[in-house]
Parts: sequence; structure tokens; C-alpha cells
Amino acid sequence: MTCSPGPIRGAADAAAADIQEILFPEAQITARVGELAAAISRDYAGRPPLLVSVLKGAVYFLTDLTRALTVPVEIDFMAITTYGSARAQSGVVRMIKDLDVEITGRDVVLVEDIIDTGLTAGYLLRLLQARSPASLRICTLLDRPYRRILETLDIAYRGFEVPDRFLVGYGLDYRERYRQLPYIGVLKNEVLAAGAPAGP
Ligand code: IMP
Ligand code: MG
Repeated sequence: MTCSPGPIRGAADAAAADIQEILFPEAQITARVGELAAAISRDYAGRPPLLVSVLKGAVYFLTDLTRALTVPVEIDFMAITTYGSARAQSGVVRMIKDLDVEITGRDVVLVEDIIDTGLTAGYLLRLLQARSPASLRICTLLDRPYRRILETLDIAYRGFEVPDRFLVGYGLDYRERYRQLPYIGVLKNEVLAAGAPAGP
């Protein structure tokens, strides 16, 4: 019996022409997310953490992570805008949606999709720390340490170290596209070039 491709496969197929290379296939992401969830479950046994995430990229990672945890957990979201493009950040961040819950005295884990320069995470950490949580840690699926501008960032849980290439899928977007891909891939240079704003 043959099966027709489901909607997720369909999305992956439609985007395939724009993807240079798949860096992390779905199965590898699932396995690594499971390992991160096991570490968090161990560390937070008996003290349910609040997982705080930033819309929208980290949502895919957060929902898979929570389903792999063996400890009770709460989730909450913030939304921010950064000025400048994703790869030319000014470090100026503005909050457009705050958390719904108070975090004072809570064990908080900031869940990120990717930490690049670290400026966004640094801003969020300062903001959260000012509210006096009992503890505050970072969990990021992807990390580009050699692009770091904020060098003091301490990452407790890290999925994969990634090369300096523009990645899409599993929540990561290019101009709001490709988030729904089940894998993480490198976007072709010609797609990036075609979308680049005209030079001066
Ligand atoms: P940072 O402030 O430089 O650490 O930037 C982190 C944010 O930049 C991430 O949350 C993403 O939104 C975006 N970003 C960085 N690298 C990539 C990438 O390769 N693909 C898509 N978005 C990215
Ligand atoms: Mg993001």
C-alpha cells in the first residue's frame, strides 16, 4: 500500500529547491531534543521550571522539548522585535509582548532557537534577571559561539554548534518562510541574494 505525503512532507518537498544542504535531519533533532530534555528533567526534579520562550522561532523547539520532559513544566512567551535584519543586528531590542506570569522566585529556563551574537539573549536575560527569579538558565537548540559579541553568556543546555551559514527550518525563518520544515537546512545563497535589499 502506498501513502500520500502528509502536509509536513509536502512543505519540505516544496522548499527542497531552496535548500543547499540538510544539516540536521528530523531524526537527529528529535534525538538531541530528547537528550536536552533528559538533562533538564534531571536538573529540575522536584522544582518544576517555567520555560520562557521568544516568539516565533523557538516555539517549534519548545513544544518538542516539553513533550520529552519527565518533570512537570509551565510555559510562557515573550515577543520582541530587533532592529535591523536577522544577521545585521544593532543589539537594540524592543519587547512587544511581555510574559503573562510573574517569575519572581521561580526557576526559569530561557529557551532559544539559535544564539548568534548573543545580543538578543543578553537583553532577555537582563530583563528576566531584574524580576528576581530563583534561578535563570539558557537552553538553546543551536549555537554559533564564534559569532558571539556578548561573550559572557553562559549556556546551560546546548543542542548543536552550527557553522556560519544561514539556516532555516524547525522554527528558523528567512523572511517568515521555511519555519515549518521538519529539518534544519542551509538556505541557498541565491535565495538569500534574491531577497537582499538593493544596495546603495
Ligand atoms: P543574536 O541576537 O545575534 O544571538 O540573534 C539571534 C536571533 O537571530 C535568532 O533568534 C534568530 O531569529 C536570528 N538568527 C540568527 N541566525 C540565524 C539563521 O541562521 N537563520 C535564521 N535566523 C537566524
Ligand atoms: Mg528568534
